[in-house]
Amino acid sequence: MLIRDADKPDLDAVLAIHNTNIAESTALWDTDEVDLDDRLAWFTDRTAAGMPILIAEIDGEVAGYASYGQWRPKSGYRFSVENSVYVDSRFRRRGAATALLAELITRATDSGRVHAMIAAIESSNSPSIVLHERFGFVTVGELPEVGYKFGRWMDLTLMQRNFPIEP
Ligand SMILES: CC(C)(COP(=O)(O)OP(=O)(O)OC[C@H]1O[C@@H](n2cnc3c(N)ncnc32)[C@H](O)[C@@H]1OP(=O)(O)O)[C@@H](O)C(=O)NCCC(=O)NCCS
Repeated sequence: MLIRDADKPDLDAVLAIHNTNIAESTALWDTDEVDLDDRLAWFTDRTAAGMPILIAEIDGEVAGYASYGQWRPKSGYRFSVENSVYVDSRFRRRGAATALLAELITRATDSGRVHAMIAAIESSNSPSIVLHERFGFVTVGELPEVGYKFGRWMDLTLMQRNFPIEP
C-alpha cells in the first residue's frame, strides 16, 4: 500500500467514493450526489489552504482518501481541524484507513498549525469510532437527532485529539 498526496487525476476515484457514501451510507449527510467540479473546488481550496489530501493506493488503484480542513470558518478556529477518511468498500479491512489516519496525524503534527483534530461521526458508525479510538481520539460530545437521512434521525458523535503547539 502506498500513501501519497492526492493530485487532480485522483479526483474521479475520489468522486466515486464520495458519491457512493452519499447514496448508500450515513457517513456523509448530503442527500444529493455531486459532480467533478465540486471535488475540484474542494481540492483547490484545501490545497491553497495548505491542508493535506492523502490517497491510499493499493495495486495501482485509489483505495481511499483522507483529509482535514478548518473545523469552522471563523478565524478563531484556525488551529482546529475536522478530519475525514473514506475507503472504497472493495478495499476495507486491509489497513487503508489506519495508514491514512496515521499519515494525516503526522502531517498535522509536522505542520505545527493543528491543535485540535475533530472527527464528527454518525453515532452508529462503530468502525469509524473504533478506528479513531485507536488513534487516541476521545468522545467529547453527543448531539442527538441533529441529522435526518434515509427516513430516520441521526445522532452525531464528536471525537477529538489535541496536539501541543505554540500558536
Ligand atoms: C471507517 C472506514 C474508513 C474504515 O476503513 P478500513 O480501511 O476498512 O479500516 P482499517 O482496515 O484500517 O481498520 C482499522 C480498524 O477499524 C475497525 N473497523 C474497521 N472496519 C470495521 C468494521 N466494519 N466493523 C468493526 N470494526 C471495524 C477495526 O478495529 C479495524 O481494525 P482490525 O481490522 O485490525 O480489526 C471504512 O469502513 C469506511 O470508509 N466507511 C465508510 C465511510 C466512513 O464511515 N468514514 C468515516 C466517516 S467519520
